[in-house]
Amino acid sequence: MQRILITGALGQLGLEFIKYFEKSDVYVLATDIRTPSEKLSCEFEKADALDKDRLDQLVKKYKINTIYHLVAVLSANGEKNPFSSWNLNMNSFQNIVEISLDNNIKKIFWPSSIAVFGTDSNLDFVSQNPSMSPETIYGVSKLAGEKLSSYYFNKFGLDIRSLRYPGIISTDTLPGGGTTDYIIEMLNAAKNKSDYTCFLSEETKLPMMYIDDAIDAAIKLMSVERKKLTISTSYNVTGFSITPSELENQIRSRGFDIKIDYKPDFRQKIANSWPKKIDDSSSIKDWEWSCNFGIKETLDRVFS
Ligand code: SER
Repeated sequence: MQRILITGALGQLGLEFIKYFEKSDVYVLATDIRTPSEKLSCEFEKADALDKDRLDQLVKKYKINTIYHLVAVLSANGEKNPFSSWNLNMNSFQNIVEISLDNNIKKIFWPSSIAVFGTDSNLDFVSQNPSMSPETIYGVSKLAGEKLSSYYFNKFGLDIRSLRYPGIISTDTLPGGGTTDYIIEMLNAAKNKSDYTCFLSEETKLPMMYIDDAIDAAIKLMSVERKKLTISTSYNVTGFSITPSELENQIRSRGFDIKIDYKPDFRQKIANSWPKKIDDSSSIKDWEWSCNFGIKETLDRVFS
C-alpha cells in the first residue's frame, strides 16, 4: 500500500492532491508549517520542512514510502527575499533527499516549473532541453533541484519524478505569490462581479493548465515504470497558452461584464523571461501524457 507524505500540503497543489487521494485507497499524511483552517480528510501534522529530524521522525512513525514534496516559495514572492527563498526551496529539497535515502523511500514527486527557462530558451516554443538561464531565484532553485534529481538518480538510484508545471488554474484553492496568479485573480473577480487590475500587460502569453490535469499528470507520471522514463530532470507539460486580453475576451463572451485595468508591475519582467508555449512531446511519448482541459473546458468548469 502506498503511504504518502505530502509536504507543503496546505498550498494550492497540496490541498488538491489531498482531495484526489481521498477517493483512492492510499494512506496520506499531510504536513505544513501552517495549521489547517478546516479539518482535512487525512492525517495532519504541523512540521517545518527545514526541520529534518522532525520530518524523519514522521516518516518513521507513519511508515511512509512515497513523498510528494510541494514546499516552495514561488516566483514573485521569491524575489522579495531571494536568500531565504533559496534556503527554503533547496534545504527542504535536500532534507527530503537525505530522509528518503535513509528510510528507503520508493518514490518522490517534486514539482518543477516553467520558471527554469530564460530568454535564451526560444520562448516562443520551448523544447524539453534548451539552454536555460532562469532569471528568478525560484527558477534557479527549480533548475538546481532538477539537476540534483538527475544526479541522485544516477548516483543512488533515488526515484524523483518531476513536472515543469505551467500556471495552474484552480479557483477553490489559491496559489501564493506566483507570476501566473493573475489568471486565477481575474477569474475570481469575474465570478465575484468585481473589477480587476491585472499586474501583467494585455499581450503577455503564458502556458497554463487546469488543476485536474495538473494532478492527473503527476499521478500518471508517478505510476509508470521508471524504465520508461528517458528524462531524469523534469518533464515539460502544458495545457493551453493564453494572454490576459484573450482571457478577458473569453470571460466577456460568457456574459460577465468585468472591468479590467492593466498595470504591469515587477512581475512583468519575470513573465517576459518565461515561455509562451511548451513542447511536451517527451511526456506524450514516454508516459502517454494527454491534456483534457483546454481553455473552453477550463472555463466551463470554473464557471459551472
Ligand atoms: N505558477 C508559478 C509561479 O508563477 C510558476 O511555477 O511562480
